[in-house]
Formats: sequence, structure tokens, C-alpha cells
Amino acid sequence: MIFTFYGHATFSIQVAGKTLMFDPFISGNAKAAHIDPTSLKADYVLLSHGHVDHVLDALTVASANNAPIVSNYEIVSWFGAQHEYANGHPMNHGGSWNFDFGKVKFVNAVHSSTLPDGNYGGNPGGFVVETGEGNFYYAGDTALTLDMKLIPMRTKLDFAILPIGDNFTMGIEDAITAAEFIECDKIIGVHFDTFPYIEIDHEAAKKAFADKGKELIILGIGEQTKL
Ligand code: NI
Ligand code: MN
Repeated sequence: MIFTFYGHATFSIQVAGKTLMFDPFISGNAKAAHIDPTSLKADYVLLSHGHVDHVLDALTVASANNAPIVSNYEIVSWFGAQHEYANGHPMNHGGSWNFDFGKVKFVNAVHSSTLPDGNYGGNPGGFVVETGEGNFYYAGDTALTLDMKLIPMRTKLDFAILPIGDNFTMGIEDAITAAEFIECDKIIGVHFDTFPYIEIDHEAAKKAFADKGKELIILGIGEQTKL
């Protein structure tokens, strides 16, 4: 799998010949000004919740590629009703679906999910993705929650993408506990540094994970890693 970071909580994962784009927020992120969202390839656009810092460029990326939007029922319906973008796959918590790249389960997150125009965005979630090349979990924006302990009961994770910026989501200490709950030693951090509220000390964060025998990967915007 190839992981590419586009800043904030935006990333793509290339797996099984497909590109999955998660939570595209690029045109609103001054730190990602060198990335052109209209040029991004995606076979699927997966959205964890309705907040603008996760859905701002979803329509741009999805429509440029005729890619389905995969999210909760309310968000997929909103793109259909408000943006006439009917190419979507609605899910809800606890449900799984077999896509051509692997199996996706929409799982619990503790957060909020109002859409940019104030519409109800359902409840926020995360994704557990099982593929022939390995399994991963993207937590979305969330607090640390005991529900994370359910994930390794079903899925052996190869890596996980967790928010680490604190204030709006878990911070470092809780993200380390989350990594313990999901029984995963390789964590990619997202949702940090974009705004003053979520600025973090990268070296201190990596050291805190290393002290618990875990690896925290922090990528620059536009940077890729093979997983
Ligand atoms: Ni949010
Ligand atoms: Mn957010």
C-alpha cells in the first residue's frame, strides 16, 4: 500500500490497484497551497464526518474522477440533495461492505458531524479497511473511546491513522492508548498543525510513542510512504 499525506486529515491510500481518498480538505488549508485538489486521482472518496475540514474538497475530487462518496447515510444523501452528486455509497455504524479493493466497516467515533451549511451530518465515524495487501483503521476525528477495543477482536491491523492534534480530537497521550486498544504498533498521525489550536511538537510526539514501543509516522504535506 502507498500512503500519501495531503495535510490536515487528508490522505490517499493506493491498494489493490485503486486509490482511496480520505477527508479531502486542501483548498482551505494554507499549508497545502502547493497541492491542486482538481488534479488528484481517486477511485473512492471516503468521508469520516461532515465537518468542513473533512469535506471541503470532496465534491471536487469525487466529480473530477466520477468516484463514489463513501460515508454515513446523511452525508451521502446531502451530496445527492445539495450538490446533485448521486454517486455515493451510504453506510452506517457497524455495517460492512465488500468493495472491489476490500472490505470497509464504518465504526464509531466520538465527535460531532454538522455539515458546512448547518445540515445534520449524521454521526461521525471511522473506517476499518481489510484488503488482500493488509488491514488498516482510520479513526476520523474522535476522542479516545473503549469502542476501539472492539476492532482487534475482528481485524488484525497493519497500521492505523489517528488524530493527534488534541483540542478537537485525541492528543498524543490518548492516541497512544488508542494504539494499545487497537493492538497496533504503527501509527500515522493526522489532524495536527493546521490551526494554532492543534499545533504539536513532532519530536516529543514521536518520542512518547517510541517510549511505549510504538512508531508514530509524521509526514510532510505531499510526502508518501510505503506500508
Ligand atoms: Ni471534526
Ligand atoms: Mn476535524
